[in-house]
Amino acid sequence: ETLPPKYLHYDPETGHQLLCDKCAPGTYLKQHCTVRRKTLCVPCPDHSYTDSWHTSDECVYCSPVCKELQSVKQECNRTHNRVCECEEGRYLEIEFCLKHRSCPPGSGVVQAGTPERNTVCKKCPDGFFSGETSSKAPCIKHTNCSTFGLLLIQKGNATHDNVCSGNREATQKCGIASSVLPR
Ligand SMILES: *[C@@H]1O[C@H](CO)[C@@H](O)[C@H](O)[C@H]1NC(C)=O
Ligand SMILES: *[C@@H]1O[C@H](CO)[C@@H](O)[C@H](O)[C@H]1NC(C)=O
Ligand SMILES: *[C@@H]1O[C@H](CO)[C@@H](O)[C@H](O)[C@H]1NC(C)=O
Repeated sequence: ETLPPKYLHYDPETGHQLLCDKCAPGTYLKQHCTVRRKTLCVPCPDHSYTDSWHTSDECVYCSPVCKELQSVKQECNRTHNRVCECEEGRYLEIEFCLKHRSCPPGSGVVQAGTPERNTVCKKCPDGFFSGETSSKAPCIKHTNCSTFGLLLIQKGNATHDNVCSGNREATQKCGIASSVLPR
């Protein structure tokens, strides 16, 4: 355990400057030290805290409930204030919890949003596509028709999958293709 840091205190009884121990996080100063006794520090009352070594005779009130669109990340205890964060699907921008960005068709999610950070989107690279607007979906590889023993009848692009020829079952594996094919 580390030694408590000290502070200088003038003791009116003896007229001496004393080196008293500071109070630890989670406590407040009840009585300065004297020549006979150490500093008296006592635990913070409920719903208040101190988070460093200090010489204050009171603790700090914890922030009240979290703001709108936020939830409690860490409840308040004697050494830490309550920590709030944006609720699911939102991130903090300056002071507001904004909705995570959705990536439009043709681009996909490369980093999902967090309570602190917006979604990161990127254009689908060659050979990949995304047909939806989504804050979760990454770009998907184009279906390789030859893997299914089928012919490529329409080459995909950033927003559409490859379209393969073939029976209905196989066509469904190719995603959107079934509606494009003759019945
Ligand atoms: C108080 O909360 C903090 C996080 O906010 C945590 O790290 C710490 O362990 C907690 N202390 C106690 C005594 O529960
Ligand atoms: C499709 O798969 C075959 C093997 O099954 C491979 O030779 C070919 O390079 C693949 N095509 C693409 C575009 O990935
Ligand atoms: C991508 O392909 C689809 C269907 O084949 C087509 O409708 C669309 O215009 C194409 N988009 C681009 C940017 O070429």
